[in-house]
Amino acid sequence: MEYIEITLIIIILIIIPSSLILFWYLNEGNKNGFPTNWPIVGMLPALVKNLDRFHLACIEILEKSNLTFEFMGPWFSNVNFLCTLHPANVHYVMNENFSNYPKGNKFRDIFDFLGDGIFNADFQLWEYHRRIILFFIRHQNFHRFLVNKTWDKLQNGLIPVFDHAAKHAIHIDLQNLFARFVFDAGCTIFMDYDPMTLSTDFPKTPVTDSLNDISSVIFRRHALPSMIWKFQRWVNIGEERKYKKALKTLDDFIYKCIAFKKKEITKKDKNNNNKVSLDLLALYMKEEKGDKFVRDAVLTIFLAGQDGILITLTWFFYLLSINPQVKSKIKKELHNAKPINWENSQELNSKLVYLHASFCEALRLYAPIAFQAKVPIKPDILPSGHHVNPNMQIIIDVYAMGRMKSIWGDDCNEFKPERWITEQGKIKYEASHKFFVFNAGPRTCVGREMAFTQMKLVAATIIQNYEIAPVEGHNVVPDMCNIFFRAKYGFKVRIFRSSE
Ligand code: HEM
Repeated sequence: MEYIEITLIIIILIIIPSSLILFWYLNEGNKNGFPTNWPIVGMLPALVKNLDRFHLACIEILEKSNLTFEFMGPWFSNVNFLCTLHPANVHYVMNENFSNYPKGNKFRDIFDFLGDGIFNADFQLWEYHRRIILFFIRHQNFHRFLVNKTWDKLQNGLIPVFDHAAKHAIHIDLQNLFARFVFDAGCTIFMDYDPMTLSTDFPKTPVTDSLNDISSVIFRRHALPSMIWKFQRWVNIGEERKYKKALKTLDDFIYKCIAFKKKEITKKDKNNNNKVSLDLLALYMKEEKGDKFVRDAVLTIFLAGQDGILITLTWFFYLLSINPQVKSKIKKELHNAKPINWENSQELNSKLVYLHASFCEALRLYAPIAFQAKVPIKPDILPSGHHVNPNMQIIIDVYAMGRMKSIWGDDCNEFKPERWITEQGKIKYEASHKFFVFNAGPRTCVGREMAFTQMKLVAATIIQNYEIAPVEGHNVVPDMCNIFFRAKYGFKVRIFRSSE
């Protein structure tokens, strides 16, 4: 090839795109707040620049664009998406035309570690999982079982650690404590096995740490062209290497639990003891679909439940620490509600309205699963008039939805449990395409009631017996580069026993 041709190719392939990117970097952000759609690279530079404030950028852009914005990725990549919070669009995708919006291959690719579990499943497989899970959590004894197991973990796990921290004036990371709490409680409830991570000697927690590593890699996979992260996975480098290592830790743990349960069942069979323990692991094992299937099923439920609860509890206590008037009202409500029969779920709902409203408000402001992605099977037109196709993801930013002035009013950034209470003193119903934290339509979260029960039990125990003071100077901010909306550096506090 002639020297001049090589120079020309270098200019076209390297120098022009690099200059464009450099030009963008110096100018991005000055186009009325909308990302520039560059030749070749599309809006990718804006995405990369705003990745660690993704949800805040969504709020800014969506408020200006009537709640729907089309993001154009690099040419020939599969990173095109339509970000929408338009209530009619959300309702349409999640309910009206549900069958055109399954989880699909792209979702399964990104969440490959969940295999055939319910999050990745569509159609018959999804119905099958939902049937088993609902059978388990709608069992007449489930509520009592849940309350007893949660009490047990509070009495023998959380309270001793709180007392220890109060006595020795230790700074503790509340988020880390809640992670241990939900991990132990979740393992006990779903697998009948207590890993005892919540104790005063603070044992290492490789499994929960692995789950956190995995979820941050999953977030990154959403933003990158799939060929890049798949190449990294193939050669085992960078974040994908971290992912693989974390997955191994997780698998070792789950397969150990499965093996343990198998032994237990065999032992019971030998002793002619037909009493089946009430846990989800045993239920799935009875289906005889192999260890890998059981692993996928149980891991998914586990992941679904654990992060939602721990994140909500963390932000709830953070919000109380900066809104002491709300805490006083909850304390008063708990005092007036005595005695509380925790085993009666109706009583919890009617007696603890303000506490329930405060959790709804914490969930609105800090949605634990901050976004939902959908891909249509067939091209479609959304109620807002936007065209979508199978090469495009529809992103519903749940965090942004909770903080839109056009949806929640000018006081949308304030923590006001009162907005959830009707004039008759009951909990106000908000449509799921407005309060989307538990998803909507046929795929609505099945663990909502369970989550509220556990969270109320934990909150009541702590609020009635302890004071929590945030450690001064500690930065409490959300981790925006994770599919779960944890506090990035945790929530460091001092614990005091209540004088009351
Ligand atoms: C505050 C706590 C919780 C929040 C915010 C929450 C939120 C969600 C969301 C957003 C989804 C939809 C996920 C998706 O399809 O991509 C979901 C689904 C699900 N959640 Fe929850 N969840 C919570 C607690 C729980 C608990 C305790 C369980 C335990 C049983 C649970 C079980 C499930 C299951 C099985 C699904 C899949 C439903 C389906 O695809 O049909 N969740 N949850």
